[in-house]
Amino acid sequence: MDLDYIINHLGETRSDYFNAVSPPIIQSSNFAFETLNDFREAIANESKATIYTRGNNPTVRILCRKLAALESAENALVFASGSAAIGMAVISQVQSGDHIVCVQKPYSWTTKLLQNFLARFGVSHTFVDGRNLAEIEAAIQPNTRLLYLESPNSLTFELQDLEACVSLAKKHQLLTCIDNSYASPLYQKPIEYGVDIVIHSGTKYLNGHSDVVFGVICSSNAIIEKIFHGEYMTLGGIMSPHDAGLVLRGLRTLPLRLERSSSSAEKIATFLSTHPQVESIVYPGHPSFPQYELAQKQMARSGGLLSFYLRADTIEVSEHFFHQLERFLLAVSWGGHESLVLPTAAFHRIPGQADSPLPWNLFRLYIGLEDPDWLIADLERAFQSCLNLEIRQKTIPDRKS
Ligand SMILES: Cc1ncc(COP(=O)(O)O)c(C=O)c1O
Repeated sequence: MDLDYIINHLGETRSDYFNAVSPPIIQSSNFAFETLNDFREAIANESKATIYTRGNNPTVRILCRKLAALESAENALVFASGSAAIGMAVISQVQSGDHIVCVQKPYSWTTKLLQNFLARFGVSHTFVDGRNLAEIEAAIQPNTRLLYLESPNSLTFELQDLEACVSLAKKHQLLTCIDNSYASPLYQKPIEYGVDIVIHSGTKYLNGHSDVVFGVICSSNAIIEKIFHGEYMTLGGIMSPHDAGLVLRGLRTLPLRLERSSSSAEKIATFLSTHPQVESIVYPGHPSFPQYELAQKQMARSGGLLSFYLRADTIEVSEHFFHQLERFLLAVSWGGHESLVLPTAAFHRIPGQADSPLPWNLFRLYIGLEDPDWLIADLERAFQSCLNLEIRQKTIPDRKS
C-alpha cells in the first residue's frame, strides 16, 4: 500500500465525522446501543465492535490500521507503552515450561521481562549472540517456542540476518518476534522477511514529538485476535484516545522527520568517522560498521541513532566532553525533534550501584531535526575543549604527532 495514502487517508472515513480533515478524538470510555440485537451482535464481534474503550475505540482503531499497513501486517494493537507491547507479545506466545531464545543485550526491560518476570512463571530463556546463526541454533531446545530478535539494538546496533533467522525458526517451528524500534517501519519491514510479530516503542519515531509513550504489536489477524481476547482485554494496558490522536498527528510527518534525522545522522557519522578525537563510530549506515552489508540488504536506511567511542584515557575526559555539549540534551529515548546524548559514563559511579560493564567512553547520539552543521559545531567545540584539557595533555599523546 502506498505510504502517502496510509499516512494521509487510510482508516479515515471523514463522512462519519462531518468531513473533518483531522479525525476527532473520541474521548469516551463506552458506547451505547439502540437495540438489544445491536448489542448482541457487537458482543459476538468484540474485537471489531466499539463497546468499551479497553477493547476498541474509533480514534485508536484508525491508528492501529495505519500502523499495521506501515508494517505490511494484517492487523495491529496499540498499548500504553512499548514495554507493554513487548510483554503482551511475548506472554501471549508462551506458557509454563516453555523456553525462549533471545538475542543478547535487548532493551533493558526486555531483559528484565525474561529474567525477573517470566522466570517466575516457569518460562526459561537463553541469550545468544544474534550475529551468530550457529549459536542461535545451538540454543534451541525441544521446548523452545519463540525466537526474540531486536535488530538493530539501540546502543551498539548489532543486527540479525532476518531472512536466515526466519528460515531457522521455521525449520524448528518457532515463532519469531522482533523489536523494530530502531529502524522504524519505513526503514525495515520484518514481516516481508516472514517475521511473525513486530513490535515498536511508538514513543520513538512513530509519535516523534517526545510527548506520548506508547507501543504497538503488528502481526497476522490470528495472532492479533488471540492477543486481543487474551492479554489485551485481560491486562488492559491500553493507549488512551487522546494519545492516539496525538500520534495520528505525529504520523503525518513521519517520512519527513525520518528523512531529516537520517540524512543529518549520516553527515554527523561521516564527520565523527574521521575525527582524531574519535576512536571509532558505530552506525549501521556507515561502511565501517562490521555488518554494513547486511544493513544495506535488510534496512532502507539507518535513522537518527549512532554511537561513537571517544578517545579518552580516563572517565574524567568523557565527563568533560559531555559537559561541553550545549546542543544535545542528556536523556534516554529518541525519535523526537530534539537531539540527545546518552554517555555510558552515566552508568558508572551511580551511588549505591556497581559500575556498569559498559565502557565509559561510549556516547550514543540521537540526531533530531536541527541543522546538522549547528550540531557538528557543538561536537567540535567539545572535542577541542578535551584537547586543551590538562589531564588529557598529560595522559594521551596527540594522535597526529
Ligand atoms: C529498543 C526499545 N524497545 C522498547 C522500548 C520500550 O518502549 P517504551 O519506553 O515505549 O515502553 C525502548 C525504550 O526506550 C527501546 O529503546
